Amino acid sequence: MQDKYKLIKVTKRSKYIEVLWNDKHISKFHFLWLRDNCPTAFHKDTRMRKFNILSIGSKIKPLSICHTSTTLKIIWSEGNHNSIFKLKWLRDFCYTEKKQPSYIPNYKLWNSKIMKKIKIAKHDYKEVMTNEKELKKWLQTMYSHGIAIIQNAPTKDKSAFKILDKIGKYRETFFGTPFEVINIPKPNNQAYTADALANHSDLPYYEYVPGYQFLHCLVNDAIGGSSTAVDGFAVANFLKKNHKKKYNLLTENEVIFKDNDFTQKNVRVQKSPIIKVNKNRDVEEIRINLGAMGTLDLSPKIMDDFYDAYTFFYKKLHSKRFQISFKLKAGDIFCFDNRRVLHGRTQFNPNSGNRHLQGYYIEREEITSKLNFLNNIKF
Ligand SMILES: [Fe+2]
Repeated sequence: MQDKYKLIKVTKRSKYIEVLWNDKHISKFHFLWLRDNCPTAFHKDTRMRKFNILSIGSKIKPLSICHTSTTLKIIWSEGNHNSIFKLKWLRDFCYTEKKQPSYIPNYKLWNSKIMKKIKIAKHDYKEVMTNEKELKKWLQTMYSHGIAIIQNAPTKDKSAFKILDKIGKYRETFFGTPFEVINIPKPNNQAYTADALANHSDLPYYEYVPGYQFLHCLVNDAIGGSSTAVDGFAVANFLKKNHKKKYNLLTENEVIFKDNDFTQKNVRVQKSPIIKVNKNRDVEEIRINLGAMGTLDLSPKIMDDFYDAYTFFYKKLHSKRFQISFKLKAGDIFCFDNRRVLHGRTQFNPNSGNRHLQGYYIEREEITSKLNFLNNIKF
């Protein structure tokens, strides 16, 4: 047991106890918090909280407190109840920890040098399917870089379901699962043509945009049809550092995304900033999609400046500095964070060969929760 888990002294105050630890850190644990988190508060099988905080009074307090080298025991003033906490658990969940971790983003930014230096991480299908270590590596790459390629996957129709099953449940949308990225005679989306596609995020007209996208290449022997990708977070961070006014315009104003293609009996409309930030004022999501962009309805006072910021950002998303390009082979699965890594393709000649990808969506939390499980992280 590490030194920091060694308890030196417990002092009872009016609303909380103070615990002095061996490394001199002092934790404050409030009575209500302690009673609420008594180990008996959770069902042993479901691991769900079964204790209801309304079943005790707000004045509950310890009648006695004692400890061993590994546990702390409290006898409560109400309900004829006592709680035994593991010291390690108390310290790990201490909310007065002085070294409160400041916000650290989970992502690692990249630009086009990724192709030369570290390269996009490539993972072998069989290894990922059969070796937990390799599965973890692949998930970790997607989590940190938002992009990874699985190689040597089977090329049978719908066969990528198996690798999604290794993670969790896929996300269904009105395009169906998988959706077929192939040129068709009367397309209901630009993806289903042979045209070039500018870098974009899929489905920006959803309130909750799918997290990750997997594009499984079944065949790609047509001339053209290279894939492009760009780390939208890296470009957003570039703006934040060097062009703050443009960055602010894109984070503070909402644009309209819409879908009402001819196959739909729905009219999907969603307002959102192009760059969404989280409570730490850090980038959380990029929504950009030429085809789905609605008509801007911003104030006349900012319309010009907004177009300046929007076009600048859009140019950077396609610049040599940030964009990468590569050609998918049959058996590749191009995996990326749809709310971070924008994807596109060059035009292809449908008369020169076939190009057929099958697409799947899966949420970010399926990736992170599987990583928690594989890393034995408990809550
Ligand atoms: Fe797309």
